Amino acid sequence: MTQEIKPNLMNNSINESTDNNINSLCQPQSKYSKEYFQHKKVKLFQGSALNENTFEKEFIDLIVTSPPYNVGIEYNSNNDELSYEKYLEFSEKYLTNCYKWSKTQARLLFNIPLDKNKGGQKSVGADLTKIAQKVGWKYHSTIIWNEGNISRRTAWGSWLSASAPYVIAPVELILVLYKDEWKKTSGSKISDITKEEFMEWTNGIWAFNGEKKSAIGHPAPFPKELPYRCIKLFSYVDDVVFDPFTGSGTTLIVAQNTNRRGVGLEIDTNYCELAKNRILSETDTLNF
Ligand SMILES: C[S@@+](CC[C@H](N)C(=O)[O-])C[C@H]1O[C@@H](n2cnc3c(N)ncnc32)[C@H](O)[C@@H]1O
Repeated sequence: MTQEIKPNLMNNSINESTDNNINSLCQPQSKYSKEYFQHKKVKLFQGSALNENTFEKEFIDLIVTSPPYNVGIEYNSNNDELSYEKYLEFSEKYLTNCYKWSKTQARLLFNIPLDKNKGGQKSVGADLTKIAQKVGWKYHSTIIWNEGNISRRTAWGSWLSASAPYVIAPVELILVLYKDEWKKTSGSKISDITKEEFMEWTNGIWAFNGEKKSAIGHPAPFPKELPYRCIKLFSYVDDVVFDPFTGSGTTLIVAQNTNRRGVGLEIDTNYCELAKNRILSETDTLNF
């Protein structure tokens, strides 16, 4: 699905001259992360989401992110084939940190797998939901994302036999969680969602294609449509949108193009460079 983002240039001046600007909001502690790049209302840090000291204070209104899925993807800087127990420990750490860096009315839009089928069946979606709640996030709802162009089928199990068939749902989850209060009473209070978008997206089954890795040059990008819907439905204009696993920069591009402020963290320098180049060439364009 292609859709046009019309940058809301009207609101570009909001908060730029106040203490809400992006520089004063998220001061990272320099020994834990490095400011990699800043452009307009977007700032990217190179560092790890596992390090709780990366940021000093609460600055996040909305997190839109997709963590590593631990399915053996060849990222440059992290092992994507941990034992399941280690993967859950890794998840608990960054979920705790994101909670700590979030403002009290922050929301977490968390794109994760439903199940893991390779190397033993696991209920990843259910397990990460529990861990998020354990570290303090409150549960709101789950969006099912039906990725039309992605095949998750690796095996049938026992072909034409009830002995041990495999059932695989070709969907991912977008968990909707929040820190303390669901109702937003702070921020610009400017929503820019249309009636049609609101009606379509509040139906929790979303259907749009996944992103092609080859088109982006990253092993696991999500399509712009995902952060676009999450940002417009769950944040106000000028809110601070954070992605702790920035990858190729998709969330930050959409944050800038929807007139929010974007902050990203990415461990790998090559992906930081990729994100920088995409942000420079794809922000404030009419098409996303
Ligand atoms: C699923 S990808 C995110 C893709 C992104 N949504 C996009 O559209 O390009 C996960 C990213 O997390 C990064 N990563 C892995 N461990 C990390 C860590 N501890 N801190 C920050 N980034 C990390 C990987 O390098 C990878 O780019």
